[in-house]
Amino acid sequence: MERRRLGFTDLELSEVGFGAWAIGGGGWAFGWGPQDDAESIAAIRRALELGVNWIDTAAIYGLGHSEEVVARAVEGRRDEVILATKCSLIWDEKGEISSSLARESVRRECEASLRRLNTDVIDLYQIHWPEDDERIEEGWEEIGRLIEEGLVRYGGVSNFLAGHLRRAQAIHPVASLQPPYSMLRRRHEGSEFAFCRENDIGIIAYSPMQSGLLTGRFDPSRLSEEDWRRRAGEFQEPNLSINLWFVDQLRPVAGEYGKTVAQLAVAWVLRREEVTSAIVGARRPDQIEETIGGAGWTLDEKHLAKIDELLAERKRRILEAGGYWPEGE
Ligand SMILES: NC(=O)c1ccc[n+]([C@@H]2O[C@H](COP(=O)([O-])OP(=O)(O)OC[C@H]3O[C@@H](n4cnc5c(N)ncnc54)[C@H](OP(=O)(O)O)[C@@H]3O)[C@@H](O)[C@H]2O)c1
Repeated sequence: MERRRLGFTDLELSEVGFGAWAIGGGGWAFGWGPQDDAESIAAIRRALELGVNWIDTAAIYGLGHSEEVVARAVEGRRDEVILATKCSLIWDEKGEISSSLARESVRRECEASLRRLNTDVIDLYQIHWPEDDERIEEGWEEIGRLIEEGLVRYGGVSNFLAGHLRRAQAIHPVASLQPPYSMLRRRHEGSEFAFCRENDIGIIAYSPMQSGLLTGRFDPSRLSEEDWRRRAGEFQEPNLSINLWFVDQLRPVAGEYGKTVAQLAVAWVLRREEVTSAIVGARRPDQIEETIGGAGWTLDEKHLAKIDELLAERKRRILEAGGYWPEGE
């Protein structure tokens, strides 16, 4: 698989990265239901065999569990893998989640992630959400100190808007932005993409298949009771039926390239030169086998225009039905 350099750094990321949220499993507020660790480890190892060279996880995924599973999967080959994780979402003994960018909290989180990941250094350490707004500068400065001390190689941010990016960049260079980015989430394409282009900041796009919706295989009846998607706007009516209609319209477009809808969704994200890599989630080896096929080919203008047309019709239908429309889209 081709690699792209992440912003100003010396990290060369495969165009598809492995996203480790779902393999954090169930038992917490944003869990995906039961998940077999052996399958998760097999999925990661298969990804590495197929040319994926980096993994995105977070302390919060499975309340530490995802990081531990990642560590087991890369045991003995840590040097071949770029590890990215995140801080700012913390939990208490009851599993209640809150946000903190207090300097001592960021440091404590980093030390815990290093332990769980069983490593001496985190290649990319990201602020997960800008929710503790007043302390963005404080938390970002602490990441600067962790870099100076050699515990972290590069610092990145996630879910930041242009205003947040400007504040962080004024303190020390931001290596990467991790925004949601898919056909259904285009909010960051404007100011944030421009800021990243101008400041040599890499973009690692999350949920390129809208958390499974844009795969052409999504079956709502298979969601476990505790899967967070049951509560998400795009997975509830009227959006769900309209989204599944949209996916059906994508099938012939993908078919013209001999590709699947999941592969089309990933290729669509990678079409933008600002995007370094698409982070795809996988719960089993066969899922990553398919989705890496989103890299290495390009969509032509005619099909991009067709997708825009379909997206406009999707929007019309959702608004007409009084459905869910996220802020800023
Ligand atoms: N920074 C943030 O705030 C943030 C937020 C979200 C995600 N992320 C990162 O981005 C990564 C990817 O995002 P994501 O997991 O939400 O979404 P995604 O990559 O768009 O979708 C992944 C999900 O789609 C399903 N899937 C994957 N391959 C498939 C295939 N070939 N056929 C059918 N279904 C398939 C799987 O779920 P099922 O089989 O259960 O349907 C899988 O968990 C995360 O793991 C995480 O690292 C970051």
